[in-house]
Amino acid sequence: MLRLSKVNKYYRVGTHSLHVLRDLDIDVADGEFVAIMGSSGSGKSTLLNILGILDDYDSGEYWLGDTLIRSLSESKAAHYRNRFIGFVFQSFNLLPFKTALENVALPLYYQGVTRRKRNVIAGEYLERVGLRDWADHTPAEMSGGQKQRVAIARALIGKPRLILADEPTGALDSETSQQIMSLLREIHETGITMLVVTHDPEVAARTDRLIRLKDGKVVDPNETAEAAASHPNLPVAVPERSLTAPAIPATAVAAEGRRRSMDEP
Ligand SMILES: Nc1ncnc2c1ncn2[C@@H]1O[C@H](COP(=O)(O)OP(=O)(O)O)[C@@H](O)[C@H]1O
Ligand SMILES: [Mg+2]
Repeated sequence: MLRLSKVNKYYRVGTHSLHVLRDLDIDVADGEFVAIMGSSGSGKSTLLNILGILDDYDSGEYWLGDTLIRSLSESKAAHYRNRFIGFVFQSFNLLPFKTALENVALPLYYQGVTRRKRNVIAGEYLERVGLRDWADHTPAEMSGGQKQRVAIARALIGKPRLILADEPTGALDSETSQQIMSLLREIHETGITMLVVTHDPEVAARTDRLIRLKDGKVVDPNETAEAAASHPNLPVAVPERSLTAPAIPATAVAAEGRRRSMDEP
């Protein structure tokens, strides 16, 4: 489904640059359900923005299916995003003055589908997430769990092959989080590849594979501090390192480009 090979990403901050992703290699097969964990600032959202073609990277390769995703024009990026990818966010990102039905129907509006037709289809997707009766309600009238279901229905309506979820349960209580994970699991079972960034070990436990990020690199799950502590014979885990600020490489300057954050679309 997707492969990152030696991907590097820098952010320019004032006169120096932050090296946020470091020679990152990640492989996700079709139909996997993967959790990405890592402490705050480890590069999870940056990674998801790159995977979602919302942001570019500085060096390495990102293959989505058979396509090399690299320095695409805005219109090509939008084309691949709409064709392959559904997004789910911690803060739901619903339009506040639109109803649940209208929010779900929005991607079809951009595809030029007629109002009548998109409302029928959006109703089917609302049904699928258990919210048929909430079609005419606005986000302000719904609970966090309901809002996330609306957002999931909106992600599904474009028939994505890949869903990228950045802390989808981050604003929900633990019971609601588990319900949302059950819904994502159901969706995954229809054949959609699923990547979920989370802080919550109980959420990660509901997925099939864990990728742990630390300082912009993948770490072996067995090499965590906890593992080292419970196995005194193992080498001590490297302590948490803050990001260093190397000189900006030429490639970073050349590729300095658009940044569209998933957090603030
Ligand atoms: N647009 C940006 N400009 C400069 N630095 C950024 C930007 N976005 C993120 N960073 C920095 O990059 C690092 C990784 O951020 P992020 O990917 O959001 O981490 P996470 O999602 O794991 O918390 C952090 O040090 C963060 O401050
Ligand atoms: Mg983040």
